[in-house]
Amino acid sequence: MKILITGGAGFIGSNFIRHIISAYPDYSIINLDKLTYAGNLENIKDMENHPDYRFIKGDICDRHFLGSLDFNAIINFAAESHVDRSILDSFPFLQTNVIGVQNLLEAAKIRGCRLLQVSTDEVYGSTEKGLSTEESPISPNSPYAASKASADLLARAYHKTFGMDVLITRCSNNYGPYQFPEKLIPLVISHALAGRPIPVYGDGKNVRDWIYVLDHCRAIDAVFHRGNAGEVYNAGGKNEVQNIDIVKRLLTLIAEKTGRDKESLMDLITFVNDRPGHDRRYAIDPSKIEGELGWTPETGFEEGLANTVDWYLSHQTWWERIISGEYMDYYKMQYKERFGE
Ligand code: NAD
Ligand code: TYD
Repeated sequence: MKILITGGAGFIGSNFIRHIISAYPDYSIINLDKLTYAGNLENIKDMENHPDYRFIKGDICDRHFLGSLDFNAIINFAAESHVDRSILDSFPFLQTNVIGVQNLLEAAKIRGCRLLQVSTDEVYGSTEKGLSTEESPISPNSPYAASKASADLLARAYHKTFGMDVLITRCSNNYGPYQFPEKLIPLVISHALAGRPIPVYGDGKNVRDWIYVLDHCRAIDAVFHRGNAGEVYNAGGKNEVQNIDIVKRLLTLIAEKTGRDKESLMDLITFVNDRPGHDRRYAIDPSKIEGELGWTPETGFEEGLANTVDWYLSHQTWWERIISGEYMDYYKMQYKERFGE
């Protein structure tokens, strides 16, 4: 098996490559990544010299380049992944998340090979009551979610029209090592350690369902190997939490682990203007993947959060390098309005 893994220098893709190389020693992996602001070869440095691993810098929007590669399966992680950035500028999202996926579908069609599209629970929109299943309507509310939903629809169309072996996974919010510090959990940790204000959008009561990244990697492994062509599988963490509760749990953990004063850390919490179109709640039902493929999330939230805080504490140079320079320009632009400046 020669798998083309796209976006493998990002957060989930790099964790997945590490997982698949250790779980399947006879596979060979090509990691194709454009190395956007979110792509970082440091995330996958330990694999650099592995005989079954090769990195290629490239863009999934470059059709001809994809045609020159040799593989017999694709797992697509490559995406513009941050909702807030899609509000500032949606063009790169449409380009990579839609046109890029169409290119990958075409490349898979030519080879007659399996393609797994890594999607998100955000395509269902805000789930005010109950849980979204794979049959729930697609109802995206952010440009990011709309671009991911578009890719899901294209993948479905390629399966129906061309009989292609396409699978879709829709996962809830991931957290864990190597997550880019623009996302809530690493943002809270890095701001707390630097003594900077921690921006909480709106009333802080929006709910997300959180899953530890390695549980997500195991879900993708299960769907890739045992899923049925044309099917969608929800991979949820069964762990709904309000944002403000996560922030407080993280600050409590940081106080315990570093000896900092808990009350001073709590004083950093700053309620700011809400994200436009902010989905109130994400909550998906993972019964299908549990029943059909025998997958279930294994990492408890307290354990996962503690591992994550430990990782960021012991990888300070990794995230300090990221949040300097270009990232600060983005941060100022994004948060100027949130802080009402
Ligand atoms: P990320 O932003 O950390 O990484 C994305 C990677 O894709 C980066 O390495 C980037 O360089 C690469 N990339 C971007 N555009 C590219 C292009 N045109 N060609 C090649 N490479 C390109 O994202 P992530 O959090 O690891 O998410 C991975 C996938 O999982 C995405 O498809 C995302 O929509 C999906 N997802 C993420 C979450 C989450 O909570 N992070 C939840 C559900 C689904
Ligand atoms: P995020 O990590 O951006 O993931 P997503 O928007 O894809 O769910 O945000 C998670 C939640 O945290 C979301 O409800 C928005 C909120 N949030 C804040 O309150 N403050 C922040 O600075 C960020 C980045 C997110």
